[in-house]
Amino acid sequence: IEDMKTQGFKLEAKDIYDINNACMKDAVMLFGRGCTAELISDKGLILTNHHCGFKQIQSHSTLENDYITRGFWAMNKKEELSNPGLTVTFLRFMQDVTQDVLKGVDETMPEHERKLIVQANIDSIQKSHAGDEYVKVSVSAFYSGNQYVLFVSDVFKDVRLVGAPPAAIGKFGGDTDNWMWPRHGGDFSLFRIYANKDNKPSGYSDDNVPYKPKYVFPVSLNGIDEGDFTMVFGYPGSTYQYASSAQLKSMRDYSYPKLIKIRDTKLKIIDQAMDADPEVRIKYAAKAASISNAWKRWIGELKGYERFDVINKKEESEKAFMAWIQARGKTRHENLFAEYEALYSKQAELNLAANITSEIMLKNGIEVLTLAEKTDHHAFSTDSLKEAFQNEILTISKDYDRDTDLKIAEHLTRLYFEYMPPLYQSQKLRKLYLKSKEDPAKAMKKLFKTSIYNDFDKLSTITREANEKHLRKLKKDPAYVIASDLGTIYYKTIRPALSGINAQIDSLDRVYIKLLAEYDSTITAYPDANLTLRLTYGKVAAYAPRDAVKYDFSTTLDGIMEKDNPNIYDYRVPERLKELHKQKDYGIYARPDGKLPVCFIGTNHTTGGNSGSPVINAKGHLVGLNFDRAWEGVMSDFYYNPEICRNISVDIRYVLFIIDKFAGAGYLMDEMHLVSE
Ligand code: ARG
Ligand code: GLU
Repeated sequence: IEDMKTQGFKLEAKDIYDINNACMKDAVMLFGRGCTAELISDKGLILTNHHCGFKQIQSHSTLENDYITRGFWAMNKKEELSNPGLTVTFLRFMQDVTQDVLKGVDETMPEHERKLIVQANIDSIQKSHAGDEYVKVSVSAFYSGNQYVLFVSDVFKDVRLVGAPPAAIGKFGGDTDNWMWPRHGGDFSLFRIYANKDNKPSGYSDDNVPYKPKYVFPVSLNGIDEGDFTMVFGYPGSTYQYASSAQLKSMRDYSYPKLIKIRDTKLKIIDQAMDADPEVRIKYAAKAASISNAWKRWIGELKGYERFDVINKKEESEKAFMAWIQARGKTRHENLFAEYEALYSKQAELNLAANITSEIMLKNGIEVLTLAEKTDHHAFSTDSLKEAFQNEILTISKDYDRDTDLKIAEHLTRLYFEYMPPLYQSQKLRKLYLKSKEDPAKAMKKLFKTSIYNDFDKLSTITREANEKHLRKLKKDPAYVIASDLGTIYYKTIRPALSGINAQIDSLDRVYIKLLAEYDSTITAYPDANLTLRLTYGKVAAYAPRDAVKYDFSTTLDGIMEKDNPNIYDYRVPERLKELHKQKDYGIYARPDGKLPVCFIGTNHTTGGNSGSPVINAKGHLVGLNFDRAWEGVMSDFYYNPEICRNISVDIRYVLFIIDKFAGAGYLMDEMHLVSE
């Protein structure tokens, strides 16, 4: 907090986190499973990214009611749309429980014994705080298990969609501009939290009322300027600041190149299909975005490691650390990095096998197989599991396009046999492949023709009844046979072996970080992200992406007009926005130079999960909404460099402008507490 104040922060630590009084943490929440949102009205209105709410926006969209293309604005509370399965989670309090978790552990005991004790201790701590289904209790490891913290949170399950701009604003620049600066996306959407009459969390109910929050962020009309203090408060997922060079080498040489190639292949097929058919565009929009997102970041990361010589730098600092270890005479750890090398080389093949399986079957791979594999867990037992499987069928069939799935299947099958280590190959898939003379197209055409897993009506009838005869038939279905074989290899062989090695790596990490802290505690000043509530602070700042080029810290509506291109889907500017630009009627949202701000960048160290996080100024007012990082610095999960790493935020003035002037939903602003001091 002292350092934050030196950098300009005007408030106290207790304004951020205080368990006895309302404070900022009461207005920040985990949105869904991997984003952040914040409260901006005392009627439960929350702000998050468009891409965080995209699944929901997409799920309410049809060709007739295409909210992706046209946007969505509930004109009153009745028009808000409910989203089964969507939750927001508020931290109630956190507490260091390291001593309790490590009770009974001593440093000399075998790792598996330690693990059992730690797990038993965690279980009993969690049990002692357990509540109903609206309370989430978890204990998270920090510094690879050198510290443990308990988190007790409240989970709200009635969260309704209130507003979203058209994708041409919310996702302007699309996957082309993703991970890039200069950026012009209005990446926001609005939801509302509902609670029961006692203001307590509840499932969806017509009787629910808007949640009355303990704290709400004032929304600033003051804007930002270069050098201004900013703080980002949210739920970053994972970072790997202390990763060894061995891990980075394994990623660079082994997993990333193949993963990139697999997703390259899927994306080419999906992009073509989306361009050719507007219905496929709706169905595949969310899938394409999620495949593309990590794919592009991996490419950027590899460039970053190369450009900043990250692996060599790591190796150098590992050498210096080793010299220190030896000087202390701690010979037990003399081989630390050699151990890492050995573990990561063992891990590489298993990791690859796991990745290929999940890319082909789970992560928007061959959906016929995804569905077939789920049968194993669901369709053959109790009524409620049968129902769950019916829901799986609905989910997949709603956004399914047979031709696209088939094409993906053909290409992924070829890659499967090219990349999958023979030891982990499915013999069932191989049999089909060989029968088709090693022609993946032939093999998959046959599979798709003979399987009922792409005949959703038939499948639904059969699995709803699921009598003995049906089950016998299902068990012979070629998609089922292959998927369950893939699943068995994955769950019974690959995953257990991989978690065995990962456990060994974790133990080594724990030892390494402990020593590292003794060696130089400034290196370990903060723990890696682990999807718990964190803050990061920095400054609004320009940067130089490459030789002789400097990027400004802020973009404007003029830049959107410069990118306008009706021939490219990602760059089609809505007519209404063009009109507004012509009129230049930016009102209170304009910058001092008269231009309308859109996005800005800063030096806050953020990562995936920080999407939707509030960007807060020195006075604690909301000035932006975090949504991305800039291309040249996306290696920051492993190597954060303040010269080049930038987080990207939507300027809150642009958000307000779109709500007010573009959408005519100014009534929402009446709920907010706007400040201009
Ligand atoms: N790169 C940002 C993040 O990691 C935004 C992703 C969504 N946008 C997109 N065009 N796919 O989530
Ligand atoms: N877009 C990311 C997310 O959804 C945040 C950007 C980042 O990875 O830094 O969480």
